Amino acid sequence: MYIEVEGGRKAVGDLTVQGAKNAVLPMIAGTLLCKETVVLERCPKIHDVDAMTAILADIGAEVEWDGDRLAINAGSVDRLAITQQEAGEVRASVLFLGGMLGRFGQAEICLPGGCSIGERPIDFHMKAFEEMGVVSALKDGKIRCVRERPGSGTVRLPYPSVGATENVILYAVLRAGETVLKNAAKEPEIVELCHFMRSMGADIAGDGGDTIRIRGVKRLHGTAYCLKSDRIVFLTYAAMAAASGGDACFRVCGDTFRYEQEYLRQIGCRVWETGNACEPKYGAAPFYEIRVSNGGGIRAVPYIRTGPYPAFPTDAQSLFLALLSKAYGESILEESVFENRFRVASQLRKMGADIEVAGQRACIRGVTRLHGETVRALDLRSGAALMVAGVMADGVTRIEDSHLILRGYERPVEQMGMLGIQARQARDE
Ligand code: UD1
Repeated sequence: MYIEVEGGRKAVGDLTVQGAKNAVLPMIAGTLLCKETVVLERCPKIHDVDAMTAILADIGAEVEWDGDRLAINAGSVDRLAITQQEAGEVRASVLFLGGMLGRFGQAEICLPGGCSIGERPIDFHMKAFEEMGVVSALKDGKIRCVRERPGSGTVRLPYPSVGATENVILYAVLRAGETVLKNAAKEPEIVELCHFMRSMGADIAGDGGDTIRIRGVKRLHGTAYCLKSDRIVFLTYAAMAAASGGDACFRVCGDTFRYEQEYLRQIGCRVWETGNACEPKYGAAPFYEIRVSNGGGIRAVPYIRTGPYPAFPTDAQSLFLALLSKAYGESILEESVFENRFRVASQLRKMGADIEVAGQRACIRGVTRLHGETVRALDLRSGAALMVAGVMADGVTRIEDSHLILRGYERPVEQMGMLGIQARQARDE
């Protein structure tokens, strides 16, 4: 499958930003912890969600879509093992370990897949489970975990891993006694997972900080939860407005993305909240309007380093590599989270970018023009970056392996159309 983007047009228009992928995936794993129906509103229709729900359906859960509402009832789940093919589809499948352990005291899963952006081991998850009294064994690419002892009440992660933090939370909410998680990840998606779990009756405090305290409860109940907008998807379409000298208005749910607004200002955009906070459509989650416009090209940024929240997000790194390739001046981007995340540089170079990569650093010397080319998405975020580059380039950019973009972006061609960008998606001949 490929997407073709026609460059040279200004991104102008209005867009409502979809629900957050990295928030919804752990929630889907969390539905395992409850026997009642859980409804996720504003759930993005993306391939990673499909892969996670296919796993749930396969182990006996009922999964039903109604528009953008996803209803899951895991009451009759009876299989405690997830097979290779299913787990290989999406890396977040590792979060079913926490969900299954919490509900059944045991779990088996084949090693998970996901984007090819480095080694992505799960040793932090396993070490944390071990401290919590879980015995695990790895054999033939399968991990088998069994709750054997009460374990310690305090767990310290060696690094604030997002996935390991989520797995500990998922396991701890039904675990007897109190679990204190230290050096926890602070990403907004962790806070959202905790909001969601609290709406099911979980007792969690401290999320958003280094230490999260979870007091185990006897049972969780069903809920209806409205997802906030995806901060990286917001940045992707905002980058298109920035890159093309455009002017776009984004309706976002539940958050005003103050850090993301600041990243856009750094590269020279005007960004402001219009004050049109819209009527909440679902429950208590309000909508905000953020406007992004750029009349004066992209400004270089001397140094950006990715890191755990609140540092610059690694998921936005590829987007900025694309943006800065046409900036006035030289920028340095350093990647500190994943070791293999500059592969998109080779594709941007094909389009005329001047990017030199040495280890975990990329030096980007801005060029005056990029040209349309046939390029390849190498992972989800590199695919998104190539869409942005396509908007910036002269002529047509053809992005092959665009199915990777659909892992995290809902109807990207249609969304670009909302901003007046000509794009089309087609299957390989
Ligand atoms: C999540 C996000 C991903 C984002 C990343 C960092 C989801 C579904 N995915 O991925 O989009 O890029 O956070 O913000 O939410 N590590 C280990 N051992 C472990 C776990 C992690 O060495 O057991 C390393 C990883 O290889 C990586 C770093 O720690 O270098 C960060 O990983 P982590 O925060 O766990 O990312 P994910 O949860 O996989």
